[in-house]
Amino acid sequence: MSEGLRLVRHDRPSVRAEAAAMAIMSEAFDPAYGEAWNAAQLSSFVTLPGVTLTIAQINGAWLGFSLVRMIADEAELLLLAVGRQWRGRGVGKALLNDCLAMTRLSGIETLHLEVRENNPAVHFYRSIGFEQVHFRPRYYRGRDGTSYDALSFRLKL
Ligand SMILES: CC(C)(COP(=O)(O)OP(=O)(O)OC[C@H]1O[C@@H](n2cnc3c(N)ncnc32)[C@H](O)[C@@H]1OP(=O)(O)O)[C@@H](O)C(=O)NCCC(=O)NCCS
Repeated sequence: MSEGLRLVRHDRPSVRAEAAAMAIMSEAFDPAYGEAWNAAQLSSFVTLPGVTLTIAQINGAWLGFSLVRMIADEAELLLLAVGRQWRGRGVGKALLNDCLAMTRLSGIETLHLEVRENNPAVHFYRSIGFEQVHFRPRYYRGRDGTSYDALSFRLKL
């Protein structure tokens, strides 16, 4: 999958780039868990200083994206998503590695993220070296009213 894969960073995303991220988001996140953002939430974030939207694409197709916010010497990986048909081929890892490279280059010392307790991505983040530092009880509310804790992870860069 690395052949032909392009990671395009947007500090001020165009309407088209934002729409690409929304299209991936609606398809990638299971609506049962209430993790996906809506278009208004995404729009309000992408214009903030220090926020970068990176879109993974191949031959014009949008595969996945990451959304990162950098403030002083800390950064947060706000969202990471890969379309279902593109999973398991290293796209998520490529996006995360690009995020690590970008943040390190900017002098960031700590990268934070939050993820639902039973999200399989927890295994992925742990394998990269993220350590759990905190949790937020009942942070996510699923479609059926079930609540899920958010686990807070940190990676020292
Ligand atoms: C998490 C996500 C981005 C991973 O994307 P991906 O392109 O499938 O990931 P990759 O193929 O690069 O795999 C990266 C690593 O994670 C592991 N992994 C991926 N999905 C996994 C799963 N469901 N369970 C366990 N491990 C998993 C892979 O084995 C791989 O490990 P390796 O490098 O040791 O082989 C994708 O599953 C997704 O979009 N999920 C829905 C959105 C979401 O929940 N995002 C995270 C919270 S913001």
